[in-house]
Amino acid sequence: MSFNNILVNKDDALAKITINRPKKLNALNKETIIELSNAFTNLENDEAVKVIILIGSGEKAFVAGADISEFANFSEEEGGALARRGQEMLFDLVENLSKPVIAAINGFALGGGLELAMACHFRIASNNAKMGLPEVSLGVIPGYGGTQRLAQLVGKGKAMELVMTASMIAADEALALGLVNYATTQEELVPLANKLAHKIMRNSLVAISGAIKAINANYTEGINGYDTEIEAFGNCFGTRDFKEGTTAFLEKRKPNFPNN
Ligand code: COA
Repeated sequence: MSFNNILVNKDDALAKITINRPKKLNALNKETIIELSNAFTNLENDEAVKVIILIGSGEKAFVAGADISEFANFSEEEGGALARRGQEMLFDLVENLSKPVIAAINGFALGGGLELAMACHFRIASNNAKMGLPEVSLGVIPGYGGTQRLAQLVGKGKAMELVMTASMIAADEALALGLVNYATTQEELVPLANKLAHKIMRNSLVAISGAIKAINANYTEGINGYDTEIEAFGNCFGTRDFKEGTTAFLEKRKPNFPNN
């Protein structure tokens, strides 16, 4: 599948999606959202892929937000539909993907850009990154899940402040808040993402998928996270990965997971 706004690379089990509109600071227009949705779906279905890294092209931006030029003239109905479609098509898809997705924030991650990074399973940032939800400075609010996920990650009070002030924060502050897991140099960002991805890949992807589901369950209305955990835990016992993992431990060797 060929794309106009993103690049997809695969290196064995590691896939990298690069949002590639550097002249527009990788702003998320409609076509980019559709392409990202298709790319994530393809990679989820690609048995060879185990971990996905998401990054922006160029040195300046991860994603500088939703493409403002596309919605400036929208009506209330169109605005609501934009948020709903985007959340369902991309942001919820990424959050619930069964394979780990790491956001490598390599510059501006604003508005929809930070919302996309927050939908990923975890984030790392380079020291030139600037993160924020500046929507209220445009007379709108975050619409791709930002009000929910920012509060989940940094707590309600700080989310309120960041949204109300439309502030941008740097990587070290984001690290202190728990918004990103690591802050590093620009040169080290991709190597660190690769290192974390390879560490993850040594483990059972089937078990990881169950863990993603169980952790996300805590943040899903109407679903009991403990029940989800119990069910996912039980399911592991029917997998070849479980047999391999426990057998390898008892035989004092490294596991070679079949991933099913
Ligand atoms: N939507 C559409 N276009 C965007 C964009 C966005 N969210 N963010 C940046 N761009 C475009 C600019 O319009 C500009 O295009 P042009 O060269 O055709 O005029 C290009 O990307 C470069 O951006 P520019 O503003 O010139 O870069 P800068 O270094 O001076 O400023 C930012 C960088 C990130 C501070 C600034 O681009 C900005 O504030 N962007 C909007 C951020 C935002 O509010 N996002 C939330 C949207 S809901």
